[in-house]
Amino acid sequence: MRYFPRRLTRAQSDAMADRCAALIAENGWGFWAVETCKDGRFIGFVGLHAPTVDLPFSPCIEIGWRLSRDAWGQGYATEAAREALAVGFEQLQLHEIVAFTALRNARSRAVMDRLGMREDAMTFSHPSVPDDSPLRVHCLYRLTQADWAARRLG
Ligand SMILES: CC(C)(COP(=O)(O)OP(=O)(O)OC[C@H]1O[C@@H](n2cnc3c(N)ncnc32)[C@H](O)[C@@H]1OP(=O)(O)O)[C@@H](O)C(=O)NCCC(=O)NCCS
Repeated sequence: MRYFPRRLTRAQSDAMADRCAALIAENGWGFWAVETCKDGRFIGFVGLHAPTVDLPFSPCIEIGWRLSRDAWGQGYATEAAREALAVGFEQLQLHEIVAFTALRNARSRAVMDRLGMREDAMTFSHPSVPDDSPLRVHCLYRLTQADWAARRLG
């Protein structure tokens, strides 16, 4: 959680899980729970989300990920994100999916790179991060449906 403004309490984390479940129930998609095929262990979430805060590129659908520390370094985020992109572009017929993170979140940016997302020239101040925080400036990555399809075929 070092790239987020604050850690969540157990109650806040549970409330977030409830919101994720409610959005999936409402829309049919969202931030899905990720489990390992090996043993069904819950390791975090990956999925699609419509940001509720106003961003310079709103409206948009973002792809996001958050895994338990002991599940890093095994390709799970990228594998799950590829499935989420397939849902977004094939089932939902989205024209573009974006991702964004604090500039220094190299691991998250590496997932964006692996997915073939392109870094946009724009950086922006995330409105939910305090003004004086070094995490406020975010980078933006984009992937179009056409680029995703071309990569998939190639
Ligand atoms: C962002 C986050 C999900 C990235 O996790 P990650 O483990 O680095 O990414 P992946 O799951 O795609 O795994 C890739 C790594 O697994 C390795 N790997 C091992 N086995 C693999 C396999 N079978 N297939 C693919 N990759 C494999 C890759 O080589 C790569 O290693 P590297 O990071 O040393 O280069 C994770 O750091 C996280 O949850 N961070 C906290 C939350 C956060 O910051 N979220 C983003 C906010 S915007």
